[in-house]
Amino acid sequence: MKNIVILISGGGSNMAAIVKTAQRERWVEKYGARVAAVISNKADAPGLQFASAQGIVTEVLEHKAYSDREAFDAALAQLIDRYDSPGQPVLVLLAGFMRILTPGFVNRYAGRLVNIHPSLLPAFSGLHTHQRAIDAGCKVAGATVHLVTAELDHGPILAQAAVPVLPGDTADALSARVLTQEHLIYPQAIAGLLRKT
Ligand code: GAR
Repeated sequence: MKNIVILISGGGSNMAAIVKTAQRERWVEKYGARVAAVISNKADAPGLQFASAQGIVTEVLEHKAYSDREAFDAALAQLIDRYDSPGQPVLVLLAGFMRILTPGFVNRYAGRLVNIHPSLLPAFSGLHTHQRAIDAGCKVAGATVHLVTAELDHGPILAQAAVPVLPGDTADALSARVLTQEHLIYPQAIAGLLRKT
């Protein structure tokens, strides 16, 4: 069985979309893959409740308990690697995981570490993407699913979706519109990866 581990920090709506798609599209039967665990760096991340209600193992690894990024990332890798199966390394998905990862961590999971970012990369990497898109007068905004490389919000693009920026949009309104697309493209991009492995 190929195990998928999803890392979250908050609401976990992208994680939930992946879990629901995996159930609906029967990823276990189709690809021999399952969402094995959801790990959060915040104990109060609402997404954890959804995951455990689905019978998925949840883990909390609070970054505040570690002296530096290296120490946190090493503990995180140790937790994740428990889900390796013989000949089937775990697939790691960042879904609103609001931590910058060390190059050592990123390299360890090269080619099997995926992120979703709420902009049409390479535009607007980093934070506050929706407000920045509005302030720049963009007519379209969107989201990007990409393989993670050591450079923040870079790496080969697996999928993108665009939405219009509407007159009078607030960051919240635009974020909600983009999020509906995130919930479609992230599971489909992962299904695409699973088909290839
Ligand atoms: C999503 O919009 C995701 O693209 C973004 O955080 C939100 C998490 O929502 N990720 C980043 O900004 C990463 N830099 P969710 O917890 O409901 O999936």
